[in-house]
Amino acid sequence: MTPELNLSRDPAHLRHGSNIGQPLSRVDGLAKVTGRARYAADNNPPGLLYAVLAVSSIARGRVVSLDVDAAKAHPGVVEVMTSANRPPLAGDPDGKPNPFAFRFEALQNDRVRYANQPIALVVAESLEAATEGAALLSPRYEAEPARIGLDAGDAYVPPVVGMGFPAESYHGDVEAALAGSDRQITATYETPAHYHNAMEPHAIVAEWHGDKLVIDTPTQGLVMMRGRLAELFGIAPENILIRSPYLGGGFGGKGLIAGPQILGILAAKLVGRPVKLVVRREQLYGPFGHRSPTRQTLQLGASAAGQLSAIHHHARIATSSFEDFYEAAAHVTHTLYAAPAIATTYDAVRMDSGTPLFVRAPGIAPGSIALESAVDEMAEACGLDPLAFRVKNYAEVEPATGKPFSSKALRECYTQGAERFGWWERPLKPRTMRDKDGFLVGWGMGTATFHALMFAGQARAVIRRDGSGVVESGAHDMGQGAWTAFAQIAADSLALELDRVTFKAGTSDLPDAGIAGGSAHTATVGTAIHNAGAAVIAKLAELATTDQRSPLFGAGNAGVIARNGRLLRRDDEGRGESYADILARAGLTEVEGSGAGMPDPAANEQYAMSSHGAVFAEVKVDPDLGQVRVTRMIGAFAAGRIINPKLVKSQLIGGMIWGISLALHEEAITDRRSGRIMNANLGEYHVPVNADVPAIEAFTVEEHDPFVNPLGIKGVGEIGITGSAGAVANAVAHATGVRIRRFPVRISDLV
Ligand code: MOS
Repeated sequence: MTPELNLSRDPAHLRHGSNIGQPLSRVDGLAKVTGRARYAADNNPPGLLYAVLAVSSIARGRVVSLDVDAAKAHPGVVEVMTSANRPPLAGDPDGKPNPFAFRFEALQNDRVRYANQPIALVVAESLEAATEGAALLSPRYEAEPARIGLDAGDAYVPPVVGMGFPAESYHGDVEAALAGSDRQITATYETPAHYHNAMEPHAIVAEWHGDKLVIDTPTQGLVMMRGRLAELFGIAPENILIRSPYLGGGFGGKGLIAGPQILGILAAKLVGRPVKLVVRREQLYGPFGHRSPTRQTLQLGASAAGQLSAIHHHARIATSSFEDFYEAAAHVTHTLYAAPAIATTYDAVRMDSGTPLFVRAPGIAPGSIALESAVDEMAEACGLDPLAFRVKNYAEVEPATGKPFSSKALRECYTQGAERFGWWERPLKPRTMRDKDGFLVGWGMGTATFHALMFAGQARAVIRRDGSGVVESGAHDMGQGAWTAFAQIAADSLALELDRVTFKAGTSDLPDAGIAGGSAHTATVGTAIHNAGAAVIAKLAELATTDQRSPLFGAGNAGVIARNGRLLRRDDEGRGESYADILARAGLTEVEGSGAGMPDPAANEQYAMSSHGAVFAEVKVDPDLGQVRVTRMIGAFAAGRIINPKLVKSQLIGGMIWGISLALHEEAITDRRSGRIMNANLGEYHVPVNADVPAIEAFTVEEHDPFVNPLGIKGVGEIGITGSAGAVANAVAHATGVRIRRFPVRISDLV
């Protein structure tokens, strides 16, 4: 295995070295399984104090009194921070300096906008004392009725949905097409609120050194968070260091800074000592975002032969009383099936909840379970097999825009997935398969899709005098394996063996890696690293080819190959020299290059860019008890170049499990009178455990995409969820003959 970077060819068509494409184990795996990995809450600077939040038990109103004296009298309590004494902020927590700055609560007044909103922070010498102090605050409220649920208030058309899609989008004449179609279905699907529920709770250790701030907190967006903190605290970004080397899951919930973290920093300022705040599990259900519940109505029209003529996808969603975030649940319908007329519309209500936020496969996850269910309902109305129906309505170009796809190996996913699953044995009629124990058996499938996005990110690469490399980017590893994938790309970008390259990530003083979200991190930062490495090698080549003493003299940049720490003449690979020799002769201790990764506007103008997949699921349902078990699941995915097949498989399986979760398990239940989440814990907010997860197989099909970015990376973080939820829902309908349209599927809906 010889790492090689061939400079004689266009970077878009590089022949890659030995690291990209290898199923390497995580470079941070050993540190994690041996407990050496230090998560934010593991930091204990000298003089540390412990903070505990007091949170509101009402959803709307104001705090009338807090027994601060009682809390302060408790032994060990150092300070109680309320809206009366919290230090001032330079920026307004209710301000909106940029679209990613969400309004939040940082004790700016006595208002309560949702249950679990922070109303005070108790700081003590021990966690126990702080906990007890918080319990002694005995808040009294002036409560107003909570507005809860998707009919909480007057519905309005939101200004935009997601991070900027129009709330009303029409392609063709949907009404006319529906009216003229042989087959029509109209169905309404509901999904509940979802919470991120990362294993690691939000936490912060904050320490001020004069006007310099050092914090340990898990984040999916280091430099963006630093910018927001600089604005809020009125200090220069350079005076803030955020360390976030390890995260125990993010799922979107660690994308933006939230009120409790600001309170931790303010408390450290107030008491003049470092403060640690680890948010208790139930307190995570409020200030940190969640997925809005949705109520989606799908109208489909088709010919008798099963050709779609129209889709109208309407979504009702909710946001908070004080901020705008609109789950783009209908957006998936723009890209998936080739209906000549497509409309997506939204309306929204304001609720007394925390502000919703991006949650694993934002928009697409709930949108996909509705669309995939509706497509199955239409297939049934046309008397067609669900996969045959999807193939018949295969979108050769993106339906809503007419753009060609930059690549789309979905057909291969359908074919190979169906083959491995044995799909074509499936009887068309529901409730016709039983296993030997009498359980109803059902097979369902769903199409997976997720946009292939890129944000903007940067990287720096260095070759040192000894010929080894250092690559830096403030990237984030939430557990997805990014650290490893980036190290692989870094090594190949410098044409070095992996152990000759140090890859640094996870702190805000490194180059801005953008946000780890939208399944875009590998594409964004991978491209930046790739370009940074190429810049360094180009500098080395310049040094060598212009120096008469070098065997590469006169070879010209186009005639040089980088391979395993050496530059070689392309026309005579026996002639070359090592990076170390080039640097030594030039009298340099190192050579540095930087690179950026960002979307190519021209390519995005021309092409629709998405990953795709096909997921097949088998469920068994107890005919008497209605208990549903997923027994088998196979997913085939096309996501461009695969940097690390082992980690990608793990990402895809993780996504598929979240798909099972969406279909069968997860749901945040809000008490309509109090506005409180009734199952704000991992015992009652159900997510699949090992017993719920069957034999799952995920594999990728070959796909080359020359347009998305130089490495052809499309992203795999979220796509696994999207087809899987629908596949499970459709399998339940096939097993039982009962079409469930309110998720998660409940036993009581089946018997
Ligand atoms: Mo994700 S919801 O884009 O972190």
